[in-house]
Amino acid sequence: MSSPSSPPTQRLSGRRALVTGGARGQGAAHVERLAAEGAAVYLADVLDDAGEAEAERLRSAGHDVTFLHLDVADEDSWAAITSRLGDGVDILVNNAGILHTAPLGEESLAAWRELLDVNLTGMFLGIRAIAPLMPSGSSIINISSIFGRAGAAGFGAYTTSKFGIIGLTRVAALELAERGIRVNAICPGGVATPMSDPNRGGPIIDDTPLRRYARATEIAAVVAFLASADSSYMTGAEVPVDGGYLAR
Ligand SMILES: NC(=O)c1ccc[n+]([C@@H]2O[C@H](COP(=O)([O-])OP(=O)(O)OC[C@H]3O[C@@H](n4cnc5c(N)ncnc54)[C@H](O)[C@@H]3O)[C@@H](O)[C@H]2O)c1
Repeated sequence: MSSPSSPPTQRLSGRRALVTGGARGQGAAHVERLAAEGAAVYLADVLDDAGEAEAERLRSAGHDVTFLHLDVADEDSWAAITSRLGDGVDILVNNAGILHTAPLGEESLAAWRELLDVNLTGMFLGIRAIAPLMPSGSSIINISSIFGRAGAAGFGAYTTSKFGIIGLTRVAALELAERGIRVNAICPGGVATPMSDPNRGGPIIDDTPLRRYARATEIAAVVAFLASADSSYMTGAEVPVDGGYLAR
């Protein structure tokens, strides 16, 4: 059986992709997988040094990857990058996200707003900015979570943002279908990245039938599928990639 990190085809050849939060973690895996399948990829992040270094590493491996500075929560930042994307975008991966935990009674308004600004409003701003640049046949992939389908004590702002992404995905799918643009969400379970603290992740893995974190490449394989014409009849879906967590 081939590894999910071994792309089977060049099925994204000629496609132009934009991945938010692409400097590290899952986003970096999405950039690498889309590029390895033939796409020209814009890697967008607030982390300039890490993002530029990752883009340079992939260019050295023969891929077409360009770093763009982007704060997804900032409307002006989206306006600034759209002027660099004049020839259009076929694939938008709304992946950037942040996490903090607090019981609702101890959550600060500032922290709540910051998380929703990045995880949810940032995704709305991305769809609003990029969809007008997308031709028919394009695909938008929004990264939600198992906590977009199931509640998680202590993850109030995060869970709220990830449930919101499911609603946003469905509305965008309905509105953009007439332009031939598909919009789907992925709900990863626990993934081994800088975001996932093993101490906090313990209970998640205990409730995961496959009993391990996902590798970022295992999420990237599904991103590439949803980006490609292999998923041409899928829109408005939320796809668990969670080791069975949501099957309980
Ligand atoms: N790690 C997990 O277990 C897990 C599980 C389910 C879903 N997710 C989701 O997957 C996505 C990727 O997370 P990850 O695990 O790779 O985390 P990560 O922290 O390793 O990576 C997140 C990336 O987003 C970038 N980012 C943060 N704020 C940004 C902003 N305002 N503008 C642009 N970029 C910004 C960061 O700089 C970083 O490169 C997130 O949406 C996260 O909520 C993660």
